[in-house]
Amino acid sequence: MAKRIEVNGESRTAEVDPAMPLAVFLRDELELRGTKIGCGNGECGACTVLMDGRAVCSCLVPVGRARGRCIQTVESLGDPSDLHPIQRKLVERGAFQCWFCASGVIMSVVALLNENKNPNNAEIRSALQGNLCRCSGYVKLLESVEEIVREGLYER
Ligand code: FES
Repeated sequence: MAKRIEVNGESRTAEVDPAMPLAVFLRDELELRGTKIGCGNGECGACTVLMDGRAVCSCLVPVGRARGRCIQTVESLGDPSDLHPIQRKLVERGAFQCWFCASGVIMSVVALLNENKNPNNAEIRSALQGNLCRCSGYVKLLESVEEIVREGLYER
């Protein structure tokens, strides 16, 4: 079985137990700690990353299933000194309070915009329904994502 995983455009070796959750692999083996682990159970969305362009809960994906696939984490978008326009908008709008859920939400937004550049409110809500915010700050978040869509901030 292939031992390589493409992560953020780089080929990485996955010489680990194939049952290891992808979220743990990303955080502990690759030190990509933007991906958070909340419930570890597929219920909170904090661990959302893209696998071949689609949002997945990386706590539920065994590394063995990710081999040979393209994984994209929040680190692929920007960093604190060079935020992606989506990230910048969310910061400017104060879309989050504690930010624990932010990376998962951002990756769900990217997955949505990969498929639909002009989602309506219902489509945005549907795309984010798997991302729980423990601060319950959904109003500003949804308004911010609508602005991201209106302003075409998907492409850098
Ligand atoms: Fe994966 Fe909660 S940590 S869904």
